[in-house]
Amino acid sequence: MRRILVAGNWKMNTTAASGVELARGVAAGAPAAETGVDVLVAPPFPYLVPVKQAIEGSVVQLAAQNAWFEESGAFTGEVSVDMLLDVGCDAVILGHSERRHVLGETDEDINRKVKASLAKGLKVILCVGELLDDREAGRTETILDEQMAGDLDGIDAEALGNVVIAYEPVWAIGTGKTATPDQAESAHAHLRKWLADRYNTESADAMQILYGGSVKPANAKELIGQANVDGALVGGASLSAENFLGIVTAATEVAAG
Ligand code: PGA
Repeated sequence: MRRILVAGNWKMNTTAASGVELARGVAAGAPAAETGVDVLVAPPFPYLVPVKQAIEGSVVQLAAQNAWFEESGAFTGEVSVDMLLDVGCDAVILGHSERRHVLGETDEDINRKVKASLAKGLKVILCVGELLDDREAGRTETILDEQMAGDLDGIDAEALGNVVIAYEPVWAIGTGKTATPDQAESAHAHLRKWLADRYNTESADAMQILYGGSVKPANAKELIGQANVDGALVGGASLSAENFLGIVTAATEVAAG
C-alpha cells in the first residue's frame, strides 16, 4: 500500500511571522503517521529555518521549492542541496511549471538538479505537466513522456525510490480549474505505466504520484480517491491552515478506505 502525501507549496508567499503561524497551525493538526498520510510544507528559502523550528517535534516534513546543482562556489543567488540539508530539509520540489514556463528551466537543468539532490539523499518532488495547448492538441502523454525521460535521465531504480512525482496540468494551476478525477487518473496511470516500462513494475507500483492544480478541501477526496493518485501538491489552498488541513483530512478518509 502506498502512503499518501499532502504537500503545501507556499510559492513566493508569507512573511516570517505568517509563515511560522501557518506552520504551527499545520503541525498542530497533522495526523499521526499510522493514518498512512504524510504532510509536508515548502516555504520560501528565507523562512526554511523558522518554519523548521515551528514544526520541530511534529510529523510535518520540510521542503524547499528549488535547488542548484553545483556544490558550492560562485553562483550568486543560488542555494545548494547541502545548504538545504544543513537547515533540515527533507525534500525539494523540482521542475515546477512556474520554474519551467516563467523562469525558463529546461529538462536538462531539472535533470542536473534531480541528480544533485538524489546524490545527497535529498528527496525530490518532481513536477511534470502539460500546457493547455498540449492537452487540446492531444499531446498530453507525449509531453509527460518527454519530461519524465529528460528529468530522470541517468537515474537508476534505486535512486528513484527517493523520488515523488507530481502531475500538475499547467492549465489547472492557480486557475480554479481542476482536472476532473478521470483526467487526473488517466494521466497518473500513464505515468505509472511509463515508470513500469522504463524501470520495473515494483518501482512503478511503489511510486507516489501526487496531483496538483487547484486542489481544495471540496475536491480533494475525489481526486486522492483515484486508484493512481497518491496525494496532492497544493498551492493556493496551502496558505491557510484550515484549508490545507481540510485536504489532509480528506486524505486520511481516503487512507482509512
Ligand atoms: P494551486 O497550485 O493549488 O494554487 O493550483 C498548485 C501548484 O502549483 O503546486
